[in-house]
Amino acid sequence: MHIVHTIPELRAALASSRQPAFVPTMGNLHEGHISLVRQAKPLGDAMVVSIFVNRLQFLPHEDFDSYPRTWEADCAKLQAAGCDVLFAPREADLYPEPQTFKVQPDPQLADILEGQFRPGFFTGVCTVVMKLFSAVFAGKPQGVAVFGQKDYQQWLVLRRMVQQFALPIEIVPGQTQRAADALALSSRNGYLSEAERAEAVQLSLALRALAHAALAAADTLPQQWQALEAQAMQALQARGWQPDYLTVRRRSDLLPPQTGDGSGALVVLGAARLGSTRLIDNFEI
Ligand code: PAF
Repeated sequence: MHIVHTIPELRAALASSRQPAFVPTMGNLHEGHISLVRQAKPLGDAMVVSIFVNRLQFLPHEDFDSYPRTWEADCAKLQAAGCDVLFAPREADLYPEPQTFKVQPDPQLADILEGQFRPGFFTGVCTVVMKLFSAVFAGKPQGVAVFGQKDYQQWLVLRRMVQQFALPIEIVPGQTQRAADALALSSRNGYLSEAERAEAVQLSLALRALAHAALAAADTLPQQWQALEAQAMQALQARGWQPDYLTVRRRSDLLPPQTGDGSGALVVLGAARLGSTRLIDNFEI
């Protein structure tokens, strides 16, 4: 595995590639990330992973400084998974000067749900991903990037970004990986105490229950969805969680369900805080 830090080094390492396959990450890699690498590997002629904790997508009170950085373990996992090139820019390599040009995603898609509770998050994500795409794919006829569906809204926002800017990059979704008790794997699970870790699966159980209720009420969902969501949030609150949202949306645009939207067209999404850890999860239904 070739480890590079600067954009010129990365471009030199990829000089003979015509179709890179790319998995961007913030490091602290777990089986969720590694499954994306395995999925991406056969889709290109060079497998590239980036590790960069992107300051632009964190709010001032969020965990940028404490975000787990596990360089040695990450390198070993990537080597074992068959990564060809690891791009690990330092902050000055990616942002040599303040990043004053930004990618502003469509507010209809990006200012709701995660964007409502983390204002500016998707601008930070789109800006860094555009820059990473330019570093990896500039001059290539085509490319593939794999994003985990655990970050469902992020995946949709980035898919739209690529469409609207006509980038020759295919955005491929990667399935959420789960622990034995069904908790979605996430770097932030490492913040949970033992008791919180045992409780954490309740977010996905509450989403499952909401999905079940939504499908059972499919015919009247546009009238009922807010009441079903309120019930789901109250159930988690009663267990000591602080939910930001638990909601039923259309898969295509994350807007509330309309008459006729049923199984196959919907997704349930949730974000909730357990102690000081904020977890997210979703299921397509
Ligand atoms: O999902 C992530 O880990 C990050 O948001 C990403 C896409 C690597 C951008 O920093």
